[in-house]
Amino acid sequence: MEQQVKRMEIRHLSKTFFSKKGYFTAIDDVSFDVYDGEFLVILGPGRCGKTVMLNIIAGVEDATEGQIIYNGKEWKGLNPEIGMVFQKLALMSFKTVIENVELALKFRGMKKEERREIARHYIKLVGLEGFENYYPKQLSGGMQQRVGIARAYAANPKLLIMDEPFGKLDAQTRYQMQEDLLKIWEKEKRTIIFVTNNIEEACYLGDRIILLSDCPAKVKEVYPIDIPRPRDMVSREFLELRTTISDNTDLSI
Ligand SMILES: Nc1ncnc2c1ncn2[C@@H]1O[C@H](COP(=O)(O)OP(=O)(O)OP(=O)(O)O)[C@@H](O)[C@H]1O
Ligand SMILES: [Mg+2]
Repeated sequence: MEQQVKRMEIRHLSKTFFSKKGYFTAIDDVSFDVYDGEFLVILGPGRCGKTVMLNIIAGVEDATEGQIIYNGKEWKGLNPEIGMVFQKLALMSFKTVIENVELALKFRGMKKEERREIARHYIKLVGLEGFENYYPKQLSGGMQQRVGIARAYAANPKLLIMDEPFGKLDAQTRYQMQEDLLKIWEKEKRTIIFVTNNIEEACYLGDRIILLSDCPAKVKEVYPIDIPRPRDMVSREFLELRTTISDNTDLSI
């Protein structure tokens, strides 16, 4: 990693849900740092508290305990510098690709011509040139995810959070999306927090991997990855890393 400036510090984060039936702890004392410009992967099993954690980081949900430090200062509430690509794709079905991508800019009051130009730039970056006037239902799952990525990028976030964006895609499309996402990230560097439950995907994408335990989520291990990109998934060093992580968790692949 070239830079080691801390963009965000997650300090002793815990989340417990209380209800009439009792309480349930989803996150238990999680701490880690996020460095500027890095591709950070959070790897954890299903239902371990990943989405809850991302929501807390983005300020959509409150923590029960702990702190989020953003650019050196404690941060509470919604953080406008954070963009999200959601696990459940949240495209507007009645809006076209370009209208979906420019939505945040429209809310900001940006003039049509200017926001269209920005939207077109990101639509091109994700490889959807020519599909500007399509509706989401006319696109494949992978293409819809590309719209989600373009939309998040267009809002110009400092930190981009991606919650299992490729989880529902078939293997072939998923590999293509992983490769393309890295190309996009290399062209327009943002700090990315990418969540997955797939070890191979984590090893392919990450500058570092934060491995979480089963529910409640705790940090089990942090793996810095210095394998040069583009990574070869069948190289010895890649397979070694994959095996090391696999031996430390119940996660497969
Ligand atoms: N509002 C809530 N009230 C009570 N429990 C909740 C609430 N939100 C989430 N949970 C519980 O917290 C746990 C973690 O949920 P979360 O959605 O963060 O998991 P996840 O790691 O993102 O899972 P997946 O990989 O399936 O997306 C789950 O058991 C879930 O039922
Ligand atoms: Mg989730």
